[in-house]
Amino acid sequence: MNESRFTLDNRLPDDYFTSSLHRDVLHGLSASPRALPPKWFYDKRGSDLFEQITRLPEYYPTRAEQEILTSRAPEIAALSRAATLIELGSGSSRKTRLLLDALTGGGTLRRYAPLDVSAAALEEAGQAICRDYPGLRVTATVADFESELAVSEPSAPSQPSGEPSEERGPRLLAFLGSTIGNFDPGQRAAFYRTLSGALSGDDMLLLGADLVKDPKVLVRAYDDAAGVTAEFNKNVLHVLNRELGADFDPDGFDHVAVWNTEDERIEMRLRARAAQTAKISDLGLTVDFAAGEDLRTEISCKFRRDSLTAELRDNGFTLQQWWTDPAARFALLLATPN
Ligand code: SAH
Ligand code: TRP
Repeated sequence: MNESRFTLDNRLPDDYFTSSLHRDVLHGLSASPRALPPKWFYDKRGSDLFEQITRLPEYYPTRAEQEILTSRAPEIAALSRAATLIELGSGSSRKTRLLLDALTGGGTLRRYAPLDVSAAALEEAGQAICRDYPGLRVTATVADFESELAVSEPSAPSQPSGEPSEERGPRLLAFLGSTIGNFDPGQRAAFYRTLSGALSGDDMLLLGADLVKDPKVLVRAYDDAAGVTAEFNKNVLHVLNRELGADFDPDGFDHVAVWNTEDERIEMRLRARAAQTAKISDLGLTVDFAAGEDLRTEISCKFRRDSLTAELRDNGFTLQQWWTDPAARFALLLATPN
């Protein structure tokens, strides 16, 4: 019944897992210290585990961002008057519903365009939103936002030619959950520039960013008592075992979250409990870990208002609004491309 309002476009290259994963693993495991990019966490199980993380008592960012969205969504809708809401790394799209409510309430929104590397998450979230928002088109894209932003209008071959495109109008590009913090400063600069170039003058960026705070609170958010984050972290080893015929022993590694004071970021690592060797058949690679050796799986940079404003300004955006939750743990900001 909803098929015509929901589309899911897979833009990942056919050889995504073979070529990109192979390259990332070859490069990352031979680097010193060893590191892997975070996108490989998010298979079906990884997306489900992340959703569990967002409900943990220690993981405040989701609730803090939700508080801001709850109070500011009407302003965001009024300021952006968006006809299209694009969301990068949308995951479950749970918080996004606050924006969808305000933007459909304001009468401007006609299309929601979530983009994620996890097809499973997009399929589930997209169908549910399509069902719950009867007037909305949902055009989901499976893609890697580091290589393919897909912010342009989708081709709509089913539309009779000559009909004016229904998506004209301002776009709001949302990047929530402090996923921006999973990039290092150089990656962020390149990312803002690409975004700024892809957006037009009446489009807006809505960015969620976690703020620097007491390291004890930060470390707890990434090392919860129930061990869900540990499972999530180790999931990347399950992905390597399945996709590359590797034989990592996930129980041979400890989950470690450390606060890097100098770079103001949390680092997620997997620490070898004892000396061990992993074979990665599909790459013909053998990797030796010394006891206590770390594999870095994720960084989560934390932000300050002045430096975040400056990095946006230096890379094509002007800050328009800066909101935090009442406890000032998390920031949500609106910026326009220069
Ligand atoms: N926006 C949601 C989810 C954040 S988790 C929230 O705020 O709760 C990060 C999301 O980004 C996951 O859904 C993951 O699948 C997606 N993601 C991570 N790296 C990605 C990449 N390189 N390209 C596209 N999506 C990516
Ligand atoms: N963007 C989220 C963050 O940095 C992703 C995340 C939360 C995460 N918990 C994690 C990534 C644990 C890896 C491991 O907060």
